[in-house]
Amino acid sequence: MKNILVTGGCGFIGSNFIRLALESLTDARIINLDKLTYAGNLANLDDLDADLDADLDESQRYKFVLGDICDSELLGKLFAEEQIDTVVHFAAESHVDRSIDGPSEFIQTNILGTFALLEAARKSWVVRDAGRGTRDAENQVEQFRFLHVSTDEVYGSLGDTGLFTETTPYDPRSPYSASKASSDHLVSSYYHTYGLPILMTNCSNNYGPYHFPEKLIPLVINNALNGKELPVYGDGKNVRDWLYVVDHCTAILKVLQKGRIGETYNVGGNSEKQNIEVVQTICDILDEKVEPLTAGQPRRSLIKFVKDRAGHDRRYAIDASKIKDELGWQPSVNFDDGIRMTIDWYLHNPAWIACVLDGSYQEYYQKMYGGR
Ligand code: NAD
Ligand code: TYD
Repeated sequence: MKNILVTGGCGFIGSNFIRLALESLTDARIINLDKLTYAGNLANLDDLDADLDADLDESQRYKFVLGDICDSELLGKLFAEEQIDTVVHFAAESHVDRSIDGPSEFIQTNILGTFALLEAARKSWVVRDAGRGTRDAENQVEQFRFLHVSTDEVYGSLGDTGLFTETTPYDPRSPYSASKASSDHLVSSYYHTYGLPILMTNCSNNYGPYHFPEKLIPLVINNALNGKELPVYGDGKNVRDWLYVVDHCTAILKVLQKGRIGETYNVGGNSEKQNIEVVQTICDILDEKVEPLTAGQPRRSLIKFVKDRAGHDRRYAIDASKIKDELGWQPSVNFDDGIRMTIDWYLHNPAWIACVLDGSYQEYYQKMYGGR
């Protein structure tokens, strides 16, 4: 039985990952450590709790722990009591606009939190290794994994051509990407200095179920359903490479099981789109599926070009050939199918949207978009 510590498992990608990992890794226990910030919602795993409650054996395979990755004491206790041998580290402040408005939380969680987690992992790994009484290098790497989930934003901004590879120099431009770059360097240093068996993934923009409606795709779906303006930053021609979240989670599982220790794998969706294309596509699909709020008014008429984001990266695009060649992973969902599945999920889950859009979201929205 593997004991996997998932950090940030109540967020968008973490919750999708836990659902998939419990299905696929039948010999694993998952301990989900999450602080439940505005972005972490227990509702993201509601269905899972119901399934697990029905089956006693299953319920022993999943445990939620409310806590902060910066809390070293709690981490030390968790590693020891739960016999953690695998870490999948998602917990982070993840929204670029919020990092521009207030970078401090990003430094705290993304850098200091990752540092605290690495320290706890290193101490526990050394103790576990000594307990086995061998210093056999192969045996050590068999036993422990620390997988750090990062972003393509650490590589900076591309022009019209070119792709990010694993060897592209880091050139972060926002407080968010700078904090993730910093955490990547720390993770890498724990491999080179201490031999901690780390793995790293740098992926492109995810989309899919349980995506918090501050990010482009869920924000546009939610606003378009409610007849609100659809804010497009600048000229709308910035490009992102969209990756369906379940594909990202299968890539993480692949890297966890087969990745070479100390390596980084880029994960992308092979789906580059300009923001304006994404917004128009969502409008058109919703027009097909749902009556407009005002008869005869196509949803594209809600599009509003607004003041650009400061330091807005122009284009991100991933070369995912390393993970394909080494591990046989490639995305299985193209954007046309993925965006329809995503829209259908939001249409079928109005209660989830209502639950995550509390008063603080309304305040956030007013602050971000009120004067734009
Ligand atoms: P998210 O914002 O939806 O979720 C983050 C989760 O971490 C939340 O559940 C939150 O409560 C938790 N958390 C935050 N601070 C914490 C702390 N100090 N201690 C414990 N838990 C804490 O993020 P996401 O979109 O699911 O992203 C997950 C990871 O993937 C992040 O590391 C992010 O940088 C990376 N990533 C995301 C994308 C994307 O498109 N969403 C792309 C590339 C990489
Ligand atoms: P976002 O979902 O915030 O992800 P990231 O900044 O990590 O790429 O934004 C995706 C793109 O959409 C990015 O180029 C900024 C743009 N954008 C808008 O045009 N309007 C919006 O309201 C938001 C949230 C983003």
